[in-house]
Amino acid sequence: MSWAPAARDDRDGERTDALARGTELHLNHYGAERLPFACVGGDGLELDLVDLSPERRGRRLRLLDASAGYASATLGAGHPVVRAALMRGTGVGNVTDELGSGERAELLDRLLGPGGLWTAHFPTGRYHVSGRNSGSEGNELALRLVLESRFDGRRLRHRPGKERRDTILAFQGAWHGWTGGLVPLLNRRYYRAGLPAPDAAAPYGLRVDHIPFGDPDALAEYFAASADRLLAVVVEPIQGDAGILAPPPGYLRDLARRCAADEVLLVADEVLTFAKTGQWFAMRDADGPVPTDITVIGKFLGMGAVSTSMVIARKELAARSSGTVTTSDLRPLPCAVIRDGIEHIGAEGLLRRSAEVGARLAERLDAALVGGHPDVFTEVRGVGSMLGVELTAAAADRIGALRTQLIEAGVYAEFMAGAGKRSGGRRYIHPTLRIVLPLTATAAQADEIVDRVAAGARELR
Ligand SMILES: Cc1ncc(COP(=O)(O)O)c(C=O)c1O
Repeated sequence: MSWAPAARDDRDGERTDALARGTELHLNHYGAERLPFACVGGDGLELDLVDLSPERRGRRLRLLDASAGYASATLGAGHPVVRAALMRGTGVGNVTDELGSGERAELLDRLLGPGGLWTAHFPTGRYHVSGRNSGSEGNELALRLVLESRFDGRRLRHRPGKERRDTILAFQGAWHGWTGGLVPLLNRRYYRAGLPAPDAAAPYGLRVDHIPFGDPDALAEYFAASADRLLAVVVEPIQGDAGILAPPPGYLRDLARRCAADEVLLVADEVLTFAKTGQWFAMRDADGPVPTDITVIGKFLGMGAVSTSMVIARKELAARSSGTVTTSDLRPLPCAVIRDGIEHIGAEGLLRRSAEVGARLAERLDAALVGGHPDVFTEVRGVGSMLGVELTAAAADRIGALRTQLIEAGVYAEFMAGAGKRSGGRRYIHPTLRIVLPLTATAAQADEIVDRVAAGARELR
């Protein structure tokens, strides 16, 4: 293996102390002890870490990043195209929603204007777009558009035919974000306990139902029983946090067909899947794009440099005037980064190339991890540059140790919660190692990642 921890000790002990203190000041969202490392630099897929543990304080490590930083570092660290876009995006004036913006207009025209890059999914003239700071905020806006579609814009009277539409369908194991409005969409208890619950009896109240994801029979049954009450369906085309679960072929198109037939809005949460499946959007199959009423994209959209999301909605879906104005709606800087990043991905053919690298990676992960370490890994799933390797029950109890071993072996990767216990006799899904590579990753880097993960798993005793 070519990798070895950099031998030199950190000469600047004071900086390490400041890193340790500052890391302590950062709210720990995970409850458990966090990894004792801080990232202080990066280039492409390589990350420079400083060890903050008492035993090896100040040690430097150079890792390969198999996480793409919560699946957001589209082009890896420090990409020249992104750097140049950041420069350009700061020199183009300040705008509001009320004022058109060159960067915003050029970006949207390039994507959704005549002949635009995404018009196969979103035909020109039928959709409009708003921007937010994060995937969660994008989904909040999508939910707002859905909820307001029940009423006339000013007086909050039900639109004809919408009186009984008080239900949203979401899927077991879904993750759509952390903000308050989204909590009812999440069925897992530990995401919801102690937080506001939906109340269909309240004025403007809402009911949320959950069915298993990817089960055509459960879907058919649900629509047969409840379509007349259904306002919208919110779906991740590939469930991420649940352990990288793709539905069977035809499932998403069947869902879209049912929604269209029963006048139910279809919301695709593509925050995670955007640009990761070898295509811009995962809502598609062999017959082409699967139509949606609202699509939310994020993560890779910001090219690893800005946290941003886009909500692409049918034109007739809008919120009450001023109700959703935000300071952050497609400002020039994110627009410049998105446009240049997307142009670069297109010009270099990175979607196709990343899918090829991902296919090889999936094969090698299967052979080296599931084949080589069946005590630790059970199954490889996923598509394109977004893969999951599910852990065994025994390894799931030792995620902390496994993460440390992976870092010691020279690779940084993340773990998804897994779907856990599911209804209808479906099998338990354990926590899952998520490997998301920047679109720039080479086959050699993917191979090296497999070797390092296998080396880390070998040390898990
Ligand atoms: C499918 C999905 N939706 C929404 C979100 C929330 O995005 P953000 O963390 O940018 O708020 C995530 C983040 O992991 C996600 O995977």
